[in-house]
Amino acid sequence: MTDQIDTLLQETRRFPPPDGFARQANATEALYQAAGKDRLGFWEEQARALEWITPWTQVLEWKIPHARWFLGGRLNVAANCLDRHVRTPRRNQAAIIWEGEPGDRRTITYWELHREVGRAANALKQLGVKKGDRVAIYLPMIPEAAIAMLACARIGAVHSVVFGGFSSESLRDRINDAQAVCLITADGGYRRGAMLPLKRFADEAIAQCPSIRHVLVVQRSPGGAGDESFANMTEGRDHWWHRLLDLASPHCPAEPMDAEDLLFILYTSGTTGKPKGIVHTTGGYLTQVASTTRYVFDLKEGDVFWCTADVGWVTGHSYVVYGPLANGATVLMYEGAPDWPERDRFWKLVARYGVTIFYTAPTAIRAFMKWGEELPAKHDLSTLRLLGTVGEPINPEAWMWYHRNIGRERCPIVDTWWQTETGGIMITALPGVVTTKPGSATIPFPGISAQLVDQKGVPLPKGGGLLVLSEPWPGMLRTIYGDDQRYHDTYWSRFGDKYFAGDGAKLDEDGYWWILGRVDDVLNVAGHRIGTMEIESALVDHPAVAEAAVVGKTHELKGQALAAFVTLKEGHQPSASLKDELKEHVARKIGAIARPDDVLFSADLPKTRSGKIMRRLLKDIAEGRALGDTTTLADPGVVSRLKDQYESEEG
Ligand code: WT7
Repeated sequence: MTDQIDTLLQETRRFPPPDGFARQANATEALYQAAGKDRLGFWEEQARALEWITPWTQVLEWKIPHARWFLGGRLNVAANCLDRHVRTPRRNQAAIIWEGEPGDRRTITYWELHREVGRAANALKQLGVKKGDRVAIYLPMIPEAAIAMLACARIGAVHSVVFGGFSSESLRDRINDAQAVCLITADGGYRRGAMLPLKRFADEAIAQCPSIRHVLVVQRSPGGAGDESFANMTEGRDHWWHRLLDLASPHCPAEPMDAEDLLFILYTSGTTGKPKGIVHTTGGYLTQVASTTRYVFDLKEGDVFWCTADVGWVTGHSYVVYGPLANGATVLMYEGAPDWPERDRFWKLVARYGVTIFYTAPTAIRAFMKWGEELPAKHDLSTLRLLGTVGEPINPEAWMWYHRNIGRERCPIVDTWWQTETGGIMITALPGVVTTKPGSATIPFPGISAQLVDQKGVPLPKGGGLLVLSEPWPGMLRTIYGDDQRYHDTYWSRFGDKYFAGDGAKLDEDGYWWILGRVDDVLNVAGHRIGTMEIESALVDHPAVAEAAVVGKTHELKGQALAAFVTLKEGHQPSASLKDELKEHVARKIGAIARPDDVLFSADLPKTRSGKIMRRLLKDIAEGRALGDTTTLADPGVVSRLKDQYESEEG
């Protein structure tokens, strides 16, 4: 971490907002002043940009650590994303422009989207789904993912979207934790030319999900209309989406929801083996995502906004679906991989659809860098006017590459720091207003209070420390589903009245934030959050494994890669094939994103005399660094032997 701080301290490049951009920007300096003077008044002003059925009577109730925003207010998220636009000429504007990985295309206007969502909402009702019921969504990046989310919001059902790359066991655990009554999935989805058999994974999962009563299956198989053979359908439980929607009326009244009614649950990894169901509610969440979308992405009539995240992650919830649609934007959605069939697929898409705002992750930018600047150079990227990044710290070199090769030195870059828990963007430049520095997320969004503290929670004016949020914000998580104690323990036990984000950070002379990454046992692999404990539990679940410790190591493209140290049970021998088997085992249990990069067999793991595994030393080994202090170890010989072994096996 000290190396990182040193490099960042040397970063002196500054990028003031281009004049042309500043002149037309939605954001102005005045936003910071307004929020500085009257924080709650600022958020009320943002909330007034939405359509409310009943106005709120109190802006905030804060009983640490439980916040309620816009008390007494009633609204419907789907009505805000659809109904108010179809009453205007925007009705005929594209809401979603979609391209499938094989190249198939669809454009859905606000009017059409409104009708599809109405039909899907009626289909859910017909299956007995009621307000407050949980609905699991396990879909590829197809328009039906957004339609399913909005249909739930329309009738007041709580969605829990599970990323299509997760395994059947991960899906099963999330369904059971939320006690979902209905699952919306597809027969398959495209990834690098192959069809991922989602319905088969779903079938494996729901064999162990007693709460599921119905399954809606979207047809994405290549056979086209009439070919329903790709999925096995269970009579009475499973229903084809297209058949039910064909029969359903497009008119479905939007359920008036309390501002604090649940909108969705989204699972994310923590420091234990069990993912946390992050709970988001209606009024505060929509206020924050709509307002950040308007000011951070500077959305205007005619923009084509492309956030490359999958709807399975919070970025997809907030900036593919809810934020942009609440603003009446046109979003681009793409189903597949960036390198399929060629490594310039993204630039082809930008040119073909005239994308104006592009939001992606540093891991993707580092891959583009590696693939070479000739690829974007071949395409017309002149429509782009604003770029964004999210998910992990962006190294200044990747920032500069993005600026030159994608932004053509013309587009501001917004580096946005936030989390599944924060619901929306928290620290970011406002384009047109804030000067950027490569590698810094810059300053808190108006109305957001971030603070740097030391290990004890004492505020620090600058330098290195921990990032906390010192005031509640509208889009904040309300609790962990079914486990309020864990909510207290994870975020509030450390500093009492301040939300502990889990990130280390540096605050510079100008009050700019440089996020350094997680300080807990959570890793960030290619922009995805993975808990070391989850992988360790998956490993020890294998019959040959006695004990496992997983650490992150620096990776050129993924930011962090996973290194697993494994001790075997009596009677099992280390071998190359067992290594592969263990990697495969983790991928099968959790999903491909969790597959360890390195597995190292060891007779012993370095432990303190009290039996605690010293992950710090394992990290030194995985990073190829000199070993830190080993004096507290029960057997100091273990680590030097491991280090020699690691260096000879992994190079
Ligand atoms: C963690 C949250 C927010 C959507 C994607 C990830 C890291 C996120 C940045 C950024 C440096 C970042 C943090 C954070 N992170 N954005 N701009 N600069 N780090 O959501 O899975 O909830 O992960 O991602 O470590 O705590 P998530």
